[in-house]
Amino acid sequence: MQTRSLNVLVIGGGGREHALCATFARSPACNTLYCAPGNAGIASVARCLTLDPADHAAVINACAAHTINLVVVGPEAPLVAGLADALRDAGIATFGPSQAAAMLEGSKAFTKAFCARHAIPTAASAAFHDRAAAHAYLEAQGAPIVIKADGLAAGKGVTMAHTAEEAMAAIDACFDAAVGGAGSAKPAPSPDETDAPPVVVIERWLHGEEVSFFALIDGTCVVPLGSAQDHKRAFDGDEGPNTGGMGAYAPAPIMDAAMTARVMETIIEPTARGMVDEGRPFSGVLFAGLMITAQGPQLIEYNVRFGDPECQVLLMRLRSDLLALVHATATGTLADVADDVAWHDEAALSVVMATRGYPGTYGKGSEIRALEAVEAKPDVEVFHAGTSRDDEGRLRAIGGRVLAVTARGTDVAEAQARAYAAVDDIDWPEGFCRRDIGWRALKRG
Ligand code: AMP
Ligand code: GLY
Repeated sequence: MQTRSLNVLVIGGGGREHALCATFARSPACNTLYCAPGNAGIASVARCLTLDPADHAAVINACAAHTINLVVVGPEAPLVAGLADALRDAGIATFGPSQAAAMLEGSKAFTKAFCARHAIPTAASAAFHDRAAAHAYLEAQGAPIVIKADGLAAGKGVTMAHTAEEAMAAIDACFDAAVGGAGSAKPAPSPDETDAPPVVVIERWLHGEEVSFFALIDGTCVVPLGSAQDHKRAFDGDEGPNTGGMGAYAPAPIMDAAMTARVMETIIEPTARGMVDEGRPFSGVLFAGLMITAQGPQLIEYNVRFGDPECQVLLMRLRSDLLALVHATATGTLADVADDVAWHDEAALSVVMATRGYPGTYGKGSEIRALEAVEAKPDVEVFHAGTSRDDEGRLRAIGGRVLAVTARGTDVAEAQARAYAAVDDIDWPEGFCRRDIGWRALKRG
């Protein structure tokens, strides 16, 4: 790719998008980098724009005004809403799947049926648009069992039910939310319509070790991007409520070369082929949530974008030019650069600092001090999620997850020590973090 040939717009404003922007900004191909909406950290590497990603015409107009050559969509909601289709229709190269392909994240029922059609290993399940049928299925299956709301639920749509009572309550909550519930984009389901959209997926509880696996796909060409493990619970020892992710590390020790090959052959490649066969080719990054069970890897769920904070640790390990890879993915030329993907041998680990109270209610506006010294450390990067600068230039926490303090080291232990040393240098009494990110990898020795 020619030097300084691309004006790039990143959509999003979290730690994932800060990691993407910081990496793109170092690329020789990057001319001007924009991010919408961005945040205080992103503002140091990109020009932040005020744009509503749900307003497709406004995004297209901004691309024309700033002669954008490539749009990279960070979060799932704009993809499920069809932003990538609108941009491509306007002739703008876009990293991220079409609305039809984003169904892999947008509908759990779609993905379960897709897996059945293409023999992709996943937990046995059934999808329901009728409450009584869901109740009857639960009674036949019994507990423990997993109940999932069908659509996007920002990580809140899954109930791991230990008892039939818990499962019944979760099923009812899904149906109650679907019938005119706030935030539900779906039409109310009607029991007598057999093609009514599913409301709930009920599936078998899988046991094993959970890993996140990533691959770039440009429709037909598939390039593995490595693995990570995250920590979804708020507190040490994997206790407390689920969050968007309190930390992550890469690579996942369980994903050795043999397991990676098995995942590619049994899950990722059949998915890419199946999506082409079904007329909805996938383009972008596919994030597979996997359970490595005694019977082998099984798909828990797909996401159609990078994970947050998994993206931060993946990119800390990437030596190749991410922008070249992303541009090739967006333009269907991934095969030309597939052999160029190179990694640091080191591990990477990211500790999320959140505002006290997250994932429940929390205050906004507390000041974060002493970040500059931490940001200057070698092998440490602090990615901002919920930050902004006040009129005096002071850094303020304005979100739940606020910083992702990320470090590289020869192994997970060293990366962890460096990340926590950096955390300890940050002066932010209103923040908290888990102190045990990486425990599973360290326990393996
Ligand atoms: P999902 O949104 O489908 O990824 O589910 C959120 C989390 O729930 C996953 O990361 C797993 O930890 C857990 N989970 C979901 N489905 C299952 C399952 N069938 N068996 C065991 N754990 C599951
Ligand atoms: N960290 C999990 C996610 O991004 O979905």
